[in-house]
Amino acid sequence: MKLFDVYSLFDVTPVKALGTRVWDDKGTEYLDLYGGHAVISVGHCHPEYVRAVTDQLGKIGFYSNSVHNPLQEELAEKIGELSGLQDYSLFLCNSGAEANENALKLASFHTGKKRVIAFRGAFHGRTSGAVAVTDNPRIRAPFNTGHEVTFVGMNDILTVKEELSKGDVAGVIIEGIQGVGGIIIPDDGFMRDLSAATKEAGVPLILDEVQSGFGRSGKFFAHQWAGIKPDLITMAKGMAGGFPIGGVLISPEFEPVKGMLGTTFGGNHLAMAAAIAVADIIKEENLVSNALEVGEYLKARLLALTDGAPDGETTATLGTLRGGTASEASGGAERSEAVEPPETPSVKEIRGRGLMLGVEFNGPVAEIRKRLLFEKHVFTGVSGKNMIRLLAPLVLSKDDVDIFIKALEEVL
Ligand SMILES: Cc1ncc(COP(=O)(O)O)c(C=O)c1O
Repeated sequence: MKLFDVYSLFDVTPVKALGTRVWDDKGTEYLDLYGGHAVISVGHCHPEYVRAVTDQLGKIGFYSNSVHNPLQEELAEKIGELSGLQDYSLFLCNSGAEANENALKLASFHTGKKRVIAFRGAFHGRTSGAVAVTDNPRIRAPFNTGHEVTFVGMNDILTVKEELSKGDVAGVIIEGIQGVGGIIIPDDGFMRDLSAATKEAGVPLILDEVQSGFGRSGKFFAHQWAGIKPDLITMAKGMAGGFPIGGVLISPEFEPVKGMLGTTFGGNHLAMAAAIAVADIIKEENLVSNALEVGEYLKARLLALTDGAPDGETTATLGTLRGGTASEASGGAERSEAVEPPETPSVKEIRGRGLMLGVEFNGPVAEIRKRLLFEKHVFTGVSGKNMIRLLAPLVLSKDDVDIFIKALEEVL
């Protein structure tokens, strides 16, 4: 049997990993600034993580959600402490899309309504509801098109209010920071207005923190930069060191009803051991602070790199670098398409918070990313054609940053 061929693969086969390093089957060492797509929060194969998962496997790996599993309560306690949302409750599932699917379902149960407001450039996953609120018709099959969804421009509070006033909205879903959409940070002021408007309309606000959560942005959740408290928060990637997991944090306004949500695998013992270990390591090693500090250092080094451009053509937006908001970055995409791309693209703008950073170039980055991987042995991600997306493990050090910057400088 062959694999269903849906992924474009780099010709690399990782067989071993530790911290921020990965080794392939030929023994080549790589620096990981991609974190397996924002998943490896506490670093690869952290000894405490390996011990916790191995120990749990020797006790009990799985039993169904028809019996008590105190590990689930322990995890809920720890996420409550890390996030400061002790009064919320936790529903456990297996992936980011599934977390969003359950959050959308809860919002709809709660309001008795159907239509969802989502945002242009959004990515929320590939299951039916999650892909319906994803702003990409190419990954939506006809089967997924029955949902009622209205897409609104980022930061457009007037249109959101107009849509809410129609009285048929079940929920509003937004990413803490858009990842696939190109590291777009909603304005903090917009987030506060959105929170107030949804509260006033009695419509649940769903924060998709699948990628931007679990410390990645330099706060536990990216929306906490705006000081808001959403009704539903979804999480997944950084939660369990690569063990498949997802979760929804649910505000106290929601009443659970037996059977309204459910899953076979969600909350299983092995996943819980993995997630508890990750939560403990994040706390003990102050990884949220590390993400902020090293992220700021990485941003500053990237800016210095652009400042050093000999011909003055390369620019980075200082305001965006410091504040990192979508409105400050507006117009970037259009500009990059209007200008004839030079042979070797140069850095145009740096966006993001903590260790969720986008380095936007004034031309395609595919070749740069390939050379970083095969010549410099550094893993990076992308958003669209012109942006290198950096989603390093939260244990990244300043020395790692220096190695990456040197590699990037040489490639450019
Ligand atoms: C913001 C966001 N939401 C949801 C998802 C879907 O998560 P999963 O692939 O675990 O279903 C992703 C995945 O990239 C994501 O970035």
